[in-house]
Amino acid sequence: MSNIESYEKAKNDFSWDIARDVLNWKDGELLNIGAMCSDRICDRGDADKTALIWEGFGDRKEKYTFNDLRIYSNGFAQFLKAQGIEPGDRVCIFMDKIPSLYFSFLGILKLGAIAQPLFSAFGDESLEVRLASANTKAILTTRKHVRKVRKIKDKLPELKNIIVVEGDPAKLKEGEVFFDVESAPKIEEFDVFKSDSESPSVLHYTSGTTGQPKGALHVHSSVWGQALTTSWVLDLKDDDIYWCTADPGWVTGTSYGIIGPWVLGTTQCVLDSGFTSSRWYQFIQDNKISVWYSAPTAIRALMKDGNELVGKFDLSTLRHLASVGEPLNAEAVIWSGEVFNGLQFHDTFWQTETGAMMITNFPGMEIRPGSMGMPFPGISASVLDLESHEPVTEPGKVGLIAFRPGWPSMFRSYWKQPDIYRSKFVGATEDAMPDELRMNPELWYVSGDRASIDKDGYYWFVGRDDDVINTGGHLVGPFEIESALVEHEAIAEAAAVGKPDEVNMEVVKAFVTLKPGYEPSDDLELDIMNFIRKRLSPLAMPQEIEYMDRLPKTRSGKIVRRYLKAIEWGEDVGDISSLSDE
Ligand code: PRX
Repeated sequence: MSNIESYEKAKNDFSWDIARDVLNWKDGELLNIGAMCSDRICDRGDADKTALIWEGFGDRKEKYTFNDLRIYSNGFAQFLKAQGIEPGDRVCIFMDKIPSLYFSFLGILKLGAIAQPLFSAFGDESLEVRLASANTKAILTTRKHVRKVRKIKDKLPELKNIIVVEGDPAKLKEGEVFFDVESAPKIEEFDVFKSDSESPSVLHYTSGTTGQPKGALHVHSSVWGQALTTSWVLDLKDDDIYWCTADPGWVTGTSYGIIGPWVLGTTQCVLDSGFTSSRWYQFIQDNKISVWYSAPTAIRALMKDGNELVGKFDLSTLRHLASVGEPLNAEAVIWSGEVFNGLQFHDTFWQTETGAMMITNFPGMEIRPGSMGMPFPGISASVLDLESHEPVTEPGKVGLIAFRPGWPSMFRSYWKQPDIYRSKFVGATEDAMPDELRMNPELWYVSGDRASIDKDGYYWFVGRDDDVINTGGHLVGPFEIESALVEHEAIAEAAAVGKPDEVNMEVVKAFVTLKPGYEPSDDLELDIMNFIRKRLSPLAMPQEIEYMDRLPKTRSGKIVRRYLKAIEWGEDVGDISSLSDE
């Protein structure tokens, strides 16, 4: 039987207090995610239960119990404290999915500091922008990635502690500290920070359509949203072996790759190696994975490798599949039902800002392939008319996905950017403070996506309402790419848009004009691609560069991405009368 017995009943009888019951939580207990995911699970008698099954490149394999989680997170908390890190300080985690990433995340929270996880494939410029924005005080990284930190550290006066958590300590440079938690003395006791429901916990950077990325700030009470959605939607039970394929550099990897499963005391698996379909199937088979949360791009890549390959593995332990991050096409849902013993991927929709799932397919509910499902009980959702911003009443009519504020895992602000936070709420007064906005049930938080609702209440994703590019489930901001492009010596002006892609949904395409003295060539194209890959990330790297004599602009000189994007997607370019013909 699934944890959510009936969607209708759950909706009618809903209260967020149910999350406390699910966790058997008593008033007065310590509300600290770091401790709740480790110490508390030990206290309930599961100290020896496996918390993490980890596999890396080659044959590397490790297992850790909840007691290990407790001790190693204490180790990080104690070490950071000794380094002078205080509650509220931002501590960046910049490493591959190695076990220390998971221990340090919990340790930072136990200390009361704010965890700022960043995707390890980020180049130095992406890293710099985010560390500068958050005034980050410490960074935890590895020998492989510390080179990027060295390049930028002189430009970050507030970055005081560079901590390398594995590798050879003899190779460190001046000002860097080595800390390997597994070989350091075991810390049995740590005085965990007494966070309250509004104490900041995690700062995740996400890309918007204009300007540099913004830091979405979360708090310790986000755990209620993460716990209940994990229980009801991912349906985790005590004996499940769960695998979330996301990297904790992105919100799925923390909300459902750390917090949700561990606060429930579930065993989870992490695979820190490159993607191949057979490696993934092998991983499921070897570890007897039962619940699997992944992303459409990965599912489409598996699909491309064919049904025969699936048949070579014993995947009979799987019992529930879910997906997030980008539109899950109907074919992928149907295919998964055919090859995984009748199990279809359950699509879930949410965002960095929402902190937890908002629109979902539930176990036991009829899946309509291609639909994102229905709002999570307790979430008041709608689509708003594109013009009037009033809820759309007509089934099938496209509008903006919007939510009434007030759910526990909702972001509390964009770091140092209250105006942008405010701009996400329809109906907000000009001087409203973040706290007033997030508690006001008369406003709508607008997600930036378009969808329609059918007559039975199922949500159907249509597309983004802005220029943000979604490549393989990762958002990249066109502005960030364009700013980096124009730093290239040959480029005068640039525009970046999403171009359709069979597997990744979108990839980045750049349109550029060159400075006098530079000629278009394949070599230059390659050079520009590498320039972006190194500075930003492989995700942001344009897969194609088109040389233009001039870029389409408004009469006031603003580059019109919309026009370029419409051409890429073969869509109507709309009204272009306002474009400059200069
Ligand atoms: O555009 C939507 C898309 O991903 C965006 C959120 O990205 P991010 O903040 O990085 O968080 C990703 C994982 C939670 C959304 O605004 N998106 C997310 N889930 C879906 C989706 N698009 C279509 N269908 C989904 N299920």
